[in-house]
Amino acid sequence: MKDLTPAPGSLDPIETASRDEISALQLERLKWSLRHAYDHVPFYRRSFDMAGAHPDDLKQLSDLSKFPFTVKTDLRDNYPFGMFAVPQERVKRIHASSGTTGQPTVVGYTEGDLANWGTVVARSLRAAGMCPGDKLHNAYGYGLFTGGLGIHLGADALGLSTIPISGGMTPRQVRLIEDFKPKGITVTPSYALSILDEYNAQGIDPRDCSLEVGIFGAEPWTNAMRKEIEQAFDMHAVDIYGLSEVMGPGVSMECVESKDGLHIWEDHFYPEIINPETGEVVADGEKGELVFTSLTKEAFPVIRYRTRDLTRLMAGTARSMRRMEKVTGRSDDMIILRGVNVFPTQIEELLMQVDALGPHFQIELSRPGRMDQMQIFTEVADNSVDPSSRTDAAAFLSAAIKKTVGISVKIEVGECGAVPRSEGKAVRILDRRPKED
Ligand code: DLL
Repeated sequence: MKDLTPAPGSLDPIETASRDEISALQLERLKWSLRHAYDHVPFYRRSFDMAGAHPDDLKQLSDLSKFPFTVKTDLRDNYPFGMFAVPQERVKRIHASSGTTGQPTVVGYTEGDLANWGTVVARSLRAAGMCPGDKLHNAYGYGLFTGGLGIHLGADALGLSTIPISGGMTPRQVRLIEDFKPKGITVTPSYALSILDEYNAQGIDPRDCSLEVGIFGAEPWTNAMRKEIEQAFDMHAVDIYGLSEVMGPGVSMECVESKDGLHIWEDHFYPEIINPETGEVVADGEKGELVFTSLTKEAFPVIRYRTRDLTRLMAGTARSMRRMEKVTGRSDDMIILRGVNVFPTQIEELLMQVDALGPHFQIELSRPGRMDQMQIFTEVADNSVDPSSRTDAAAFLSAAIKKTVGISVKIEVGECGAVPRSEGKAVRILDRRPKED
């Protein structure tokens, strides 16, 4: 793999600024953001007043803990535009979550917000090793999802040649990578695996393709998966994080030269980690729920937004801004099986250790009697794996899960292609337990 470290002179000055400079900028911006939300969004005025917190009370960054949290249902309760802080005519773009599990969450951007979004995504793409003039194959979905258009905005800001292919039509993805020879690909890690399958199906060696870096996000993925993808494509694999409520992709980004967690673009997004049970802010280094306050957003400011993503904050390395550890899962995705907490990423990590099995899996939860049961559907790495090796692989995986996670699971190993493929975010959990009233 090539060294893709960006030239120091190409970074934004704030990426290498001192902590004091960053904190001073954050304080000034935080004061503005609290005031902006309080003055223009009735929801924030009510919630601040109820908590007895006023924007003028913020004298130092740690005073933010006096302000109330915002949660997803607050956004849903104010559907569609109740959380917007600017008149409709200043809103230049609207995105929304799919809303498959309820009311969609709607977010908006002014022209200034779009410019800032472009800046942080450009910074992220540069941190991945992309340079002006490089070709980018953008396979995140275009549409209401922030992935496709968010990356596109940053690619334009950085001066890349973007191939806006979006997700789906996997044979065409391979065809265009082969013909157009992009240097980078932006895609969910699970869809990258589908593209890998297609390479193998077409008998083309993915290690010979032009790709030098894959920029993966929108769902949790492990370092074990990183190794698998890096080896399969002979390219770097780096992590990009974000959420629509806070901006979209580009809230934080891993640097290709260090691959040691994701630098949060702290000049635009102020992070806190809280204990999810008590709501108390915990010290850097301790694990908990990530909470964000926007520092510059005009159309859709968020104050102490609870992401449900679990991680920890660490000091900066390749950049001055703090890092967050790879997100291991969302508190919503945590399965509690007979009292044991399980995340799909734990299963992924163990599955990657079994050579006879492919990297695809789904977890099914059921309740045949009174006890919850977990079954894992996975598949062979290739169909030449004989039946006894399949049985051995299933037994090995089940023993590894028992030992590491502490639960007994049933494992079903199908043929290659048996596990449904994703074209965007993977569906990892099928909950077939009876709904409780
Ligand atoms: O997934 C934005 C995005 C697009 C990020 C493309 C990166 C690349 P949402 O659809 O609002 O936005 O989903 C946000 O996805 O709260 C996390 O739970 C999860 N997520 C996003 N990036 C990562 C990541 C986009 N790198 C939710 N690792 C977030 C783990 C991630 N989880």
